[in-house]
Amino acid sequence: MRPMDTTHTTHTTKTRLAPTLVAPETFLVHDHHGEGTDPVSVGLNTMVIRAAEPVVVDTGVMENRDQYLADVFSLVEPEDIRWVFISHDDVDHTGNVNALMERAPNATLVIDWFMKERMGATLDVPPTRWRWMRDGDALDVGDRTLQLVRPPIFDSPTTRGLFDPTTGVYWASDGFASPMATPVPRVRDLDLVPWLEGIHTFAQYVSPWLGLVDPARFQRTVDRIEALAPRVIAGCHTPAIDHGYVGDAIAATRTAPWATVPPQPDQSVLDAIQRALEPV
Ligand SMILES: [Fe+2]
Ligand SMILES: [Fe+2]
Repeated sequence: MRPMDTTHTTHTTKTRLAPTLVAPETFLVHDHHGEGTDPVSVGLNTMVIRAAEPVVVDTGVMENRDQYLADVFSLVEPEDIRWVFISHDDVDHTGNVNALMERAPNATLVIDWFMKERMGATLDVPPTRWRWMRDGDALDVGDRTLQLVRPPIFDSPTTRGLFDPTTGVYWASDGFASPMATPVPRVRDLDLVPWLEGIHTFAQYVSPWLGLVDPARFQRTVDRIEALAPRVIAGCHTPAIDHGYVGDAIAATRTAPWATVPPQPDQSVLDAIQRALEPV
């Protein structure tokens, strides 16, 4: 991925991506940002698993609330939602948690103690509707037991991914992320090289501590995901990674700590943005 040049401010209509079926009764619900203003777009996805006890995975960003709720409720009736799983407490994963829980009266919110601490007063769901679950725990949703597995790349201490052994879908939260030239539903719609370079860049931006890790110990965190043998990797910031691409995504993650990646935008970029905003 090129260094982010946010001085390009052409506005375009936001591309609408309908939910993508990634496995039986499992849907990636799409959103993205950056289109028309940045050189690349970044996904802001969530997921719905129509298990015997339906599960919504993460809740998107506040500014997409109407479309997010419409997409989710097109897949599952609000009163049928039994679980709302939050992978971690960042705003791009919790933006509609209160709105969704208000509209889904039978849902239990799967968070953990530290998530509750870190969200503070922004979490407006009563404790009687919580369940605290951490990495390594298992969630029984009636016809399957979902496993909570932390991805190798993460930017919050509360992060847990979610693996469905009945479909082989792994929700990676911020892991296996990569930007897109244009918004697309599946990784197979992207060019392979920039996709894999984007995994390196995203990983180092999200997890700057990668430069500190012991190489062998880091590989064991990737081994843990590979051992799940996921058929599909889904995540907030990636198009669906279908079976033929899972190996490439895992391999790129293994080399991410040592890859050379472009720098993040600095003050000179902000200077250019501010100049562009000045009245002529
Ligand atoms: Fe995050
Ligand atoms: Fe995120």
